This record gives sequence, C-alpha cells and structure tokens, in this order.
Amino acid sequence: MKKIITKSYEEMSAVAAAVIAEQIWKKPDSVLGLATGSTPIGMYDRLSTMVKTGELSFSAARAFNLDEYYPIKRDNPQSYYAFMNEQLFSNVDFVRERTHIPNGEASDPVLECAEYEILLNKYGPIDVQVLGCGLNGHIGFNEPEDSLDTLTHVTGLTQNTISANARFFDDISEVPDKALTMGMGAIFKARHILLLISGENKAPVVKKLLEGRVSSLCPVTLLQLHSNVTLIATEDTLAD
Ligand code: F6R
Repeated sequence: MKKIITKSYEEMSAVAAAVIAEQIWKKPDSVLGLATGSTPIGMYDRLSTMVKTGELSFSAARAFNLDEYYPIKRDNPQSYYAFMNEQLFSNVDFVRERTHIPNGEASDPVLECAEYEILLNKYGPIDVQVLGCGLNGHIGFNEPEDSLDTLTHVTGLTQNTISANARFFDDISEVPDKALTMGMGAIFKARHILLLISGENKAPVVKKLLEGRVSSLCPVTLLQLHSNVTLIATEDTLAD
C-alpha cells in the first residue's frame, strides 16, 4: 500500500483530485468508482473547478457509485443520488446515462443489486475506485461481519453507522436502516484503489489498517491484500 500523509484535509483533497485528473487525462473513457460521505467533498470540489476552467472533462468517462440507502427517494436531500448531483454531477460534464448509482427507490432491491452487478461486469473493471472509510472500518456499506459479500447486495446498517450518519438527517429515526452496496468483489477488481481518510476520529481504524493484519470485522484492513492501493490520509489520523 502506497501511503501519502498530508498536513490538512485540503491537501488530501488536492492530491486525490490530481490522481483522478491524471487518470482521466491518460484515459478519458476511464471507469471511476465513486464514494459519498464528507471525506471526498473537497476532492469533488476541486474536480468541479477543473472542469469549469476547462482543464478536465468527464465527457467520455463512466462512474459507478458504491452505495445508496434503502429505501430512499432520489429527491430526498440525504439520498446519495442527491449528494452526487450536488457535489459533482451537476457541476461537471459526465453524460448522465454513464453515471450509475444503486436505486434506493427500486421495488425489488435484490433485483436492483443483481442488475447493478451486471452493469459492473459489463463496463468494469473500475480503473480508479475512490473509497472513504467508516469509523468501524466499513467500506461502501460493507459493514464488519464474520464474512463479507462479494457481490452487490442489500445490507443492514450497524447502529454505529446509523449513529455516525445521523448528523446528516433531522433525526436519527430518519436514517434508513438498510443500504444497497457494491460488494468486496467489484472493489477488489478495481485496478487502483484510492483510499481517503481524514480526521482524528478515524485514528483507531487507521491504526488497524496499518497493523498488518486483516479481518472482515474491520473491512478496510482487507485492502492490504490488494496490489494497487494508495492511502491518502491526513496526519491527524496517525494520532495514537
Ligand atoms: C459512502 C461510503 C461510506 C463512507 C464512510 C465514511 O459512499 O461508501 O463507506 O465512505 O461511511 O464516511 P465519511 O466520509 O462521511 O466519514
């Protein structure tokens, strides 16, 4: 695992945006794997600016988002569909049909996951997969469990994740208790994984990640087994 430690969130975001931009310049029709949450917002902001100034174009690229709450309406401001529109898609020039997010409105969530997996197989493997990491080590919504799913699937959210994400909702009772998420398979097939971690509260999980052991009870640790991971972490995540 290549490690880049940055002084600040801003620097982490700038380095991450540069990795994505390099990828698109090198291969304009790249397939990107994208994440939501607070961590990648600064990176999306920089990418949006680069598109506005004409330095970068996503017009030939394709994107797959990792996950979506279930059930949730797309027009709910807390849906990941709304998040991606606000933070990136409405500011840049992706062709909408080439941006994929699991559908939190699907009447049959199991079928929705199966169809998402078919799309991932059709257009994958992902060239660069952006990942954040939960306080409990989840990636996507692959929560700590005795065993992890390889395919896109419906999952229950842990109380830890529901509490962590309640900050985005008016009330914790509004946080959906399920999600649709890419499994470990598509994540591991990605050619390059860009793992972004910021903030002192993630120090315990970064410690586990760098310990040299792997466990499905801390899914992010499995990334040590992937041959091309770049961790970009702010220096406060190394606090013990
Ligand atoms: C979101 C996702 C999650 C987040 C994680 C960290 O698409 O995949 O795994 O990356 O919950 O969230 P933040 O960045 O808000 O700390």
